[in-house]
Amino acid sequence: MTDTLLGRFIVLDGPEGAGKTTQVDRLVRRLRKAGRQATSVRDPGSTPVSERIREILLDTGLPDMDARTEVFLYMASRAEMVARIVRPALEVGLVVVSDRFVSSTVAYQGYAGGLDPGPIWDLGRTACGGLSPHLTVILDLPVEAGFGRLRGERDRIESKDPAYHEKVRQGFLAMAAERPEAFVVVDAARPADAVAEDIWEAVQRVL
Ligand code: TMP
Repeated sequence: MTDTLLGRFIVLDGPEGAGKTTQVDRLVRRLRKAGRQATSVRDPGSTPVSERIREILLDTGLPDMDARTEVFLYMASRAEMVARIVRPALEVGLVVVSDRFVSSTVAYQGYAGGLDPGPIWDLGRTACGGLSPHLTVILDLPVEAGFGRLRGERDRIESKDPAYHEKVRQGFLAMAAERPEAFVVVDAARPADAVAEDIWEAVQRVL
């Protein structure tokens, strides 16, 4: 289904504090400079309904949530984001860069939360009407280094223990190793300029 779309769908994902948000902005600016129409989204979020679901997911005032509940809330937020923003943009030929996507649910709720990754991938395809990224770039760095970069109060997911976040990191690396045609791993512990160069090189190959 993704192949019938004019545009390109790129995902930046990875553990906490990897600099995804900065790199998403840089990539969109670079794409535009290169003459491509480009836009970005953040998952969960980007539409009124998705942002409301995001608030629930990250609310530290709520008690711990079952991993399955988290899966369905992330998927609901994502379904709305894809239907309202991502798919329409891809249909008219834009490059859409997403800050996280289904790969995060597989890493966090799957590898770290204890759920089987296979059904999460399936659910992701259902929620997104068969859409999958042309490329997912994993910005990888050690858990401690990532947390050292975080500023402000930790949200509900960031507050989970270091062992959980180590499983998240290993989950991202495992999925990238399994599907090298769809994933690229970039060492995000380096300065932002070097990281941006590696991302650009990988993205150019799928444009
Ligand atoms: P962000 O802070 O990178 O925007 O992501 C929000 C938090 O939600 C972050 O701690 C990672 C977590 N998360 C999941 O647990 N599962 C998911 O499917 C997604 C997209 C994010």
